[in-house]
Amino acid sequence: MKYVLWAIVGIIMFAWLFSLCSPAGGLKTGHEYMPDMVHPVSYEANLYSAYEWNHWDKESVKSKAELSRPRSGVEGTVPRGMTAVYYTGSEAISAIRGGNAVNAIAAPVNGHAPFYYQNTEADRYAAERDMVNNPFPITKEGLDRAKPLYDIYCGICHGKDGKGEGDLIKTEKYPAAPKNLLAEDMVAAGNGRFYFAMMYGKNVMGGYSDKLSYEERWQVIHYIRSMQAADKQLEYSEKANTLSNVEKPANGTASGPARAGNTVQPPAPPAN
Ligand code: HEC
Repeated sequence: MKYVLWAIVGIIMFAWLFSLCSPAGGLKTGHEYMPDMVHPVSYEANLYSAYEWNHWDKESVKSKAELSRPRSGVEGTVPRGMTAVYYTGSEAISAIRGGNAVNAIAAPVNGHAPFYYQNTEADRYAAERDMVNNPFPITKEGLDRAKPLYDIYCGICHGKDGKGEGDLIKTEKYPAAPKNLLAEDMVAAGNGRFYFAMMYGKNVMGGYSDKLSYEERWQVIHYIRSMQAADKQLEYSEKANTLSNVEKPANGTASGPARAGNTVQPPAPPAN
């Protein structure tokens, strides 16, 4: 009789022990008697998890406080909705705090920033509608850096003066006329139209997304704007900007007239 009793207690204990294990699923990592890497111990950000049950060694055991803390991004990546800036030092702090850019965050010069538009005409217009502000202030340093980039990558076709008659057009036979970047429609065009053109190109113009970093693209746009301003005898510098009231000079105010449309509604896309 005694044996039977002990046997029953034993079986109950045994069953109870195994019932402690729970299957993994959903957001639960589960508990295992013998963790054998069958189940991943991945965990979600900002979420308590029972990860500490699945321990192998001291290093892999994390406290609940640690697990519930927001995880920092992988180095060199830019979180969704953020932008990358070139600056370091106090300027970077200002940029991170949104001092000169909405949602700006510091990243290396060649920092990658996501671009969610596809190479379609609909997205070309969407980009022009959405990408209004240049996240970088107008600085002499930025314009100086953009000039050689423009001359090398764009000037050969669009001309060093931006009027669309680069060396490639003058000396070679090129199948299509490059856009005159100083023409009224390009002065009125939103920044997104330039940015999109650099990402994907247009017809016979190829894309330049692999040649210019995120920030370089925006500095080239500043440089094109500065040529447009010079052509109209307007100022576009780190002290003042009378071309548009969208771009902010580094040491002054953007006091000029708005481009056609306004800061929220960039101009309507061209007819074709
Ligand atoms: C190999 C010659 C060539 C180079 C280099 C070139 N482009 Fe172009 N680009 C063109 C041609 C041609 C067009 C006209 C395309 C069309 O409308 O069919 C054009 C059009 C454009 C447009 C107008 C797009 C639109 O929405 O109508 C922009 C903006 C532009 N280029 C910017 C740039 C910038 C910035 C660079 C340098 C990063 C550059 N291009 C380099 C040939 C070139």
